[in-house]
Amino acid sequence: MRKLIILFLFICSNSISAEVNIFSARHYDSDLELYKKFTEQTGIKVNVVSGNDKALQKRIIEEDKDCVGDIYITSDAGRLGAFESKGMLQHANWSDEIKKKVPIIFRSDSWVGIAKRARIIFYSPERVNQSELQNLNYESLSEPNWKGRIVIRKSDNIYNQSLVSSLIENNGKDETLKWAKSLVTNMARSPKGNDRAQILAVAAGEADLAIANTYYYALMLSGQKGEEQKNAAKKVLPFFPNQNNRGTHMNISGAGLLKFSPNKSNAVKLIEFLLSEESQKHIVNNTYEYAMLENISPNELVPGKDLDFKQDNETDVKLYWDNQSEALKIMLLAGWK
Ligand SMILES: [Fe+2]
Repeated sequence: MRKLIILFLFICSNSISAEVNIFSARHYDSDLELYKKFTEQTGIKVNVVSGNDKALQKRIIEEDKDCVGDIYITSDAGRLGAFESKGMLQHANWSDEIKKKVPIIFRSDSWVGIAKRARIIFYSPERVNQSELQNLNYESLSEPNWKGRIVIRKSDNIYNQSLVSSLIENNGKDETLKWAKSLVTNMARSPKGNDRAQILAVAAGEADLAIANTYYYALMLSGQKGEEQKNAAKKVLPFFPNQNNRGTHMNISGAGLLKFSPNKSNAVKLIEFLLSEESQKHIVNNTYEYAMLENISPNELVPGKDLDFKQDNETDVKLYWDNQSEALKIMLLAGWK
């Protein structure tokens, strides 16, 4: 009888804990569809708290031990690194399968990349000639032929901070400061707007080159942002820099295991599910990111849909956080608004 009661209690407690709580700074309805599939397959209920990155991090820190969150999902390795450095994540002991799927430069002990994106150049084929594109690198955006021709968003943007962090890693602080100063003189306007606004500026003739993440271009082409943006995207072309050296700057969306996760094993199951072929296909076709798994093709609308470009597979994305404060310092010193 006692054994039966213990068994009963075990079953009860097990069914009560069959849930997982996600705090997500991603804003995709398609992510919710994915979590629904996970529940259907495992019986584990998924609760989602969404919000912007800063607000969610603040809430998790304030709730401390009382926070019911298991997984923190956000874009940019710089943000994941920042949160990890505040001690808000725990070591996850990733399985061999996850380690095999996700190269070491796209994960830490506490977070793992679930999708990739590239930060690339978009140009006007009318105003940029082919010789200017020859061997174009991020580094060459500082050259005088680009004076007054480049648009890029502000220095407070994490994607830019991560790009500059990567340049610091590859070229050193002094070179990067020189580069940033010249880049500022090459800007067509004082930085404003999001990544799509940069592409729109090139389409409108305000600039010749824009820096933006790959998925924004696909999103515009998809028509989900309206006809005007679709037509604007058609007027510009993507270009992958640094093809003759380390490759194009890559970043991730990722998931971290929260420090006080009450449903740790379910959390790990969900992260493993996000890295399954089924989930990876779902992600690339809805968010227009690149899959973390090499065998999954990107969506047709995404630049580099044939994966025929060289990705930077050397620069560890964990450095985006390590170099972040230096990157911001350099950008501000250079007068990057
Ligand atoms: Fe984004």
